[in-house]
Amino acid sequence: MRATFLGHACFLIEAEGKKVIIDPFLSGNPQAAMKPEEVEVDAVLVTHGHGDHLGDAIDIAKATEALVVAPYELAVYCERRGVRAHPMQIGGARQFPFGWVKLTPAWHGSAVINDTIEYTGNPCGFVLRAGGKTLYHAGDTGLFGDMELIGKREKIDLACLPIGDNFVMGPEDAAYAVELLKPRMVVPMHYNTFELICQDPEEFAKLVGDKAKCRILRPGEGLDV
Ligand code: NI
Ligand code: MN
Repeated sequence: MRATFLGHACFLIEAEGKKVIIDPFLSGNPQAAMKPEEVEVDAVLVTHGHGDHLGDAIDIAKATEALVVAPYELAVYCERRGVRAHPMQIGGARQFPFGWVKLTPAWHGSAVINDTIEYTGNPCGFVLRAGGKTLYHAGDTGLFGDMELIGKREKIDLACLPIGDNFVMGPEDAAYAVELLKPRMVVPMHYNTFELICQDPEEFAKLVGDKAKCRILRPGEGLDV
């Protein structure tokens, strides 16, 4: 499995010839390492309806005929905008041609916010198994004790954890999440995109210490999991 950080909470995952993008916020993302029209994927995983996660999901799915996988209400929202979407809910898992996906809880909100606010169910995180490796993308969330359960149930190779604080975990809580999840590797995300979520990822790495291998990725940079 290869995981490439595309900025904010967006990752491109490649395994066994299949490609998946998670939370493709590229247009309007000052960190974006790829243009939405350059994305060629089999599936688009979306954790929740906020603009910095749903992002370009619908346009990418339309252009590539990729399958959108999202919590039920958000999947229906996408489907009604002309894409193929597969609804799931927290705790449910499914084997897809591109990998095995399970939805995990996330303590956050989920709505598409324009002139109006359309609520899109509960937000989620994803466990993705592909190419013999297991990735956990926490989505936007605060720290919660059931991360320990996720760590017990899944042998996580790579955890992508938000550290931006304010809307999500800050570095200290994210480092504690590493203790609960026990991943082999961890990559911080959801920081420094905007003023409000400025954090020093090196501080996070120090807090993680030897609990996991912490990799700080610049947008566009990838790693072999
Ligand atoms: Ni959010
Ligand atoms: Mn967010």
